[in-house]
Amino acid sequence: MQKLVIRGEKRLNGEITVQGAKNSALALLAGCTLCSGEVLLKNCPALSDVFAACRILNRLGCKSRYYDNCVQVNAGAVSECAVPEDLMREMRSSIVFLGAVLGRKGQCELSYPGGCELGPRPIDMHLSALEQMGVRINEEYGVLCCECPYGLHGAKISLGFPSVGATENIMLAAALAKGETVIHNAAREPEITDLGNFLNCCGARISGHGTSTVVISGVEKLHGCEYEVMPDRIVSATFMAAAAITGGELDLRNARACDLEAVIPVFEQMGCQVFTYDARIYINAKRPLKAVRTIRTLPYPGFPTDAQAVVMAALTKAKGTSVIIENIFSSRYRHVDELVRMGADIKTEGKVAVIEGVKKLYGARVRASDLRGGAALVLAGLAAQGETEVEKVCYIDRGYDNIEKCLREVGADICRKTS
Ligand code: EPZ
Repeated sequence: MQKLVIRGEKRLNGEITVQGAKNSALALLAGCTLCSGEVLLKNCPALSDVFAACRILNRLGCKSRYYDNCVQVNAGAVSECAVPEDLMREMRSSIVFLGAVLGRKGQCELSYPGGCELGPRPIDMHLSALEQMGVRINEEYGVLCCECPYGLHGAKISLGFPSVGATENIMLAAALAKGETVIHNAAREPEITDLGNFLNCCGARISGHGTSTVVISGVEKLHGCEYEVMPDRIVSATFMAAAAITGGELDLRNARACDLEAVIPVFEQMGCQVFTYDARIYINAKRPLKAVRTIRTLPYPGFPTDAQAVVMAALTKAKGTSVIIENIFSSRYRHVDELVRMGADIKTEGKVAVIEGVKKLYGARVRASDLRGGAALVLAGLAAQGETEVEKVCYIDRGYDNIEKCLREVGADICRKTS
């Protein structure tokens, strides 16, 4: 098992290039299943979830290769329709392969994705939408056997909640379906916009992606393309929080401020100076941090749930009382107990977390239990007095491409050890 060992109380200072977005890359990789030609995805981060998606593509009969921050996929022949349980469990977001395989092959067999890190991860909206498009779903012992006896057809689908994954699955299934599909109350996250742009690059006919109404007109076939994955907005937020908690200043290259319109004001309320440019975000946290009255996580364009843990880490050292309300997932405070072990003063009750700023955090042995919560523990370690060991780094590696290298290059005393 690997751990990150951090010696804290070092101000970060320097420039970091932000990686490509995990939550876009995974959907685009699933989308490659629909393409009868070769796809080259550029700016693809080296993440365990990306490698898991490549393994699924290879198991389906596609040929995928990861090199130099790119993934080359040849899906000319998709020979399989089943995604085995071991691969489904490796990555929660494997469920988006359902829509893509159905779109390409008209049938698909896969097990429920893993769950529970953030609370239950139901897929009811995914399944009911696909049924409206002509999919017959038979569930046996946790395995979903899906087929379209009369082919996939367009439908008018209203989502009860703007689910990111459900929106992606419908777009992927609809791209090659007969007729037009309209998604009402679609998710508006930038990763949805990226997926629609990618599919259109491959010959799909999608409009409205990034708004709450997405229209997909099915086409006969999709060809390959070259496409650059968007920057990771949550990784940008993570490094902004790293600057904030260490009182440092960072220049984030390949960072898209327009994706962070609900996040940047929070850092400004904390007392940070933030300057945004075309593809850069500069943050300076030279002044002592101030508490932020209330942060509510919401679907985009609201404050992203994925930034909740890392912003909470920064708030542990912000003078005064901050309140966070987690509205998206039912169990996304598992990093709180670990932060408290480092001296943070945080109380949670249901969706609400109340953070009283403290003067000091203290190094401790802590354990990651999910991706963003693990990143929050690293940030706390950067500011803590003494040495912090963050165990179960595997969670962090799912979403951060060599986080210790990025942080070391701007002054952190951090290294990876095998325990
Ligand atoms: C995506 O998850 C992201 N993952 C998550 O990022 C992100 O937190 C989430 O969107 C919200 O922005 C990927 O893109 C790979 P949802 P997803 O469907 O698609 C409920 C990270 O840290 N729901 O928008 O699973 C669900 O339980 C990860 O990078 C249903 O009830 O999110 C949740 O409470 C974590 N039924 C809420 O909706 C459904 O059929 C939002 O889920 C689907 C979802």
